[in-house]
Amino acid sequence: MNGLTTTASLIYLVCAFCYVIGVHLMRSPKTAKSGNRLSFVGMILAVIMILIQLITDGKVNVTAWIVLIVGLLLGILYGFLRAKRVQMTDVPQLVSLFNAVGGGAAAVIGIFDYLTASGHLSLILSIPVFLDVLIGGITFSGSLIATGKLSGKISGKPVHIPAGPFINIIVILAILVSAFLMIGQSDNYWYLILALAASLIFGLLMALPIGGADMPVVVSLLNAFTGLAVAFAGFVIDNQVLIIAGALVGAAGTILTLQMADAMNRSVANILAGGFGTGEGESSSAGDDAANAKVVSTSADDIGLQLAYAHNVMVVPGYGLAAAQAQHEVAELAKLLTDHGINVDYAIHPVAGRMPGHMNVLLADVNVPYDQLKQLDEANSMFGNTDVSLVIGANDVTNPLARQSGNSISGMPILDVDKSKSVVVIKRSMSTGYAGVANPLFSLPQTKMFFADAKKGLQDIIASTKEYIDQ
Ligand code: TAP
Repeated sequence: MNGLTTTASLIYLVCAFCYVIGVHLMRSPKTAKSGNRLSFVGMILAVIMILIQLITDGKVNVTAWIVLIVGLLLGILYGFLRAKRVQMTDVPQLVSLFNAVGGGAAAVIGIFDYLTASGHLSLILSIPVFLDVLIGGITFSGSLIATGKLSGKISGKPVHIPAGPFINIIVILAILVSAFLMIGQSDNYWYLILALAASLIFGLLMALPIGGADMPVVVSLLNAFTGLAVAFAGFVIDNQVLIIAGALVGAAGTILTLQMADAMNRSVANILAGGFGTGEGESSSAGDDAANAKVVSTSADDIGLQLAYAHNVMVVPGYGLAAAQAQHEVAELAKLLTDHGINVDYAIHPVAGRMPGHMNVLLADVNVPYDQLKQLDEANSMFGNTDVSLVIGANDVTNPLARQSGNSISGMPILDVDKSKSVVVIKRSMSTGYAGVANPLFSLPQTKMFFADAKKGLQDIIASTKEYIDQ
């Protein structure tokens, strides 16, 4: 081991330290920003070290340097501008797009190594090369579909491919055959093309039929795949920092996937097999009844009066709160009520919004005290004693139909908002949430609908609550 290799190994160790501590800090909204910065420092160090190794190696020709620098600058520029300009509600699809880029890049590394090995790929190295192409390809196409679904460019509903199970079997066979052919034999490009095509098709087949409320689990699984693909790319090009970073993303993504599946009361295998969340054969007459039932609407003035005389208020935030960027207003209303001696808590569903921890991030942004954030089980134990549940832009996570079978959210744990004494729902219309299932909560006797944009609606409620509190 020469001096530079030793230095590089030490620097990569520092990078690994930055990633591990960074991820640890990201566990709490209070320290998440520092965690992000520390991981960023680790990434920059790794890139600089790799560039130094390439320069001293002297094997990179001028054309390759041009490609490398132009690619690096374009990537930095695009990533910086997109991340700077992205709306909070569009972050999930951006993350999914980054997953696709990570998986695609890893697959390209595998392809490049296979092509340049021309018959000299050792058996031991051909395994990560194959896995890199396979997992990278699946992640690339699967994540692009997930990006399309999350951004609404592709229908969020499950897409059923005719003869899907049959095609699945063919594709799995193609993957097995290509694995057998590619591993240990690096002189036939057709094997590579077969592996790549099969993995890309597999990714499409995996993501297209997923819909309903199951997307969070799949996005998180694809994130874990990206990590794995990157780790295999690290083995292929013998780069420790890629192995470490990839393994970390793979492990974190796997844990998150299991937690999300758990939160949805699903098994990952079940989601992938399409048993749940596909909406196939959805025959929920209760859903139709809910769509047709009469609802009672209310006004900001009535809600202000109700809140001013309540003892316990539970705010139930959902995607609509994020879409309206109404977190400042909700915090202002909560402060108004707590200053008046009313207990205010927030019921946080693990998949409310469009990304893991979405509601926590949103509410941390306006310094909502952490002890007011109640997770699913604790919140559910409090609804019986809640005078007013203020549901703001939440829909699926409150839908009592989840307790019945035969619909796309069956079995998903929900916030038992319907158990509170009265419910006020702020949303713009009667339209359904992400899963596309009508919500009978809206027509229950204790529920009143306030049809408004969450931001404007909350501003009006704050004004009227102030009037009643000041009286
Ligand atoms: P949803 O069920 O998607 O409902 C959000 C509601 O917000 C909609 O019904 C919409 O009704 C309302 N809304 C939208 N813009 C609004 C605005 N400006 N002002 C007021 N209301 C507005 O949200 P949820 O209850 O948070 O459930 C999340 C869903 O997304 C689940 O099905 C979950 O599985 C899925 N999902 C979650 C994630 C993660 S990781 N959290 C990722 C992907 C998918 P109107 O149009 O009538 O206003």
